[in-house]
Amino acid sequence: MVIGVTNLKGGVGKSTLTQNLAVSLVHRGYKVCILDTDLGQRSSMKWAAQRSEEVPAIPVLGTEADNVIKDAKENEKHYDIVLIDGSPQLELAQVKTLTASNLVLVPVSPSALDIWSMQQFMGKYEQVKAVKGDGIHGFIILNKFSGKTRLDKEVTEALDSLGLKVLKSKIADRVAYREAPINGMGVIEMKNDKAKKEVNLLTDEVISMMKKLK
Ligand SMILES: Nc1ncnc2c1ncn2[C@@H]1O[C@H](COP(=O)(O)OP(=O)(O)OP(=O)(O)O)[C@@H](O)[C@H]1O
Ligand SMILES: [Mg+2]
Repeated sequence: MVIGVTNLKGGVGKSTLTQNLAVSLVHRGYKVCILDTDLGQRSSMKWAAQRSEEVPAIPVLGTEADNVIKDAKENEKHYDIVLIDGSPQLELAQVKTLTASNLVLVPVSPSALDIWSMQQFMGKYEQVKAVKGDGIHGFIILNKFSGKTRLDKEVTEALDSLGLKVLKSKIADRVAYREAPINGMGVIEMKNDKAKKEVNLLTDEVISMMKKLK
């Protein structure tokens, strides 16, 4: 199973969600690796370098746009789940990540700017979906979401009309997500019950989708 975490927009939480999902899935007993496609920042490679030996190891492999599909296929032989940490803007990496993935998670924050960039992203997604058909399933995951403001509600409605389902689980804006990478951790390995609970719910939802796709 290849899960791409991608969006054309920068800073929406691709790396944060990739790392937290990877940690959570490893603790559920899956064999997981991450492909870091972000040549500029290599956020997930840096994250892995901080990870202590006391927590389960998660291999992070750097890859380039041209090699994403090949590397995903190769690593799928050795891991239950290959998570792809998507890169912003690079069109080629974007299309290759979508092409390589069975499941696509698209982090979006409740902001008009994020919604506008989603319209552009949907163009790329539809292009790949036209070729892959049932071989690709995309979902929006709301990140830095409070659910309390009028904007949050309007954004959820606007996203519903784009044609990708919005996941039930949502991730709030919490310091824990900013702190966890310092030690290469996921929030479920830290003391923050609220963050832990929402990542566990997201993991449940992802696992149930994976089971449906098999
Ligand atoms: N739910 C959250 N709560 C608090 N901070 C968050 C949350 N999600 C992400 N962040 C912070 O927002 C910033 C951007 O997140 P991240 O690097 O994961 O995004 P990205 O989409 O991978 O960015 P890029 O496009 O640059 O690769 C980081 O400082 C991260 O710690
Ligand atoms: Mg990133």
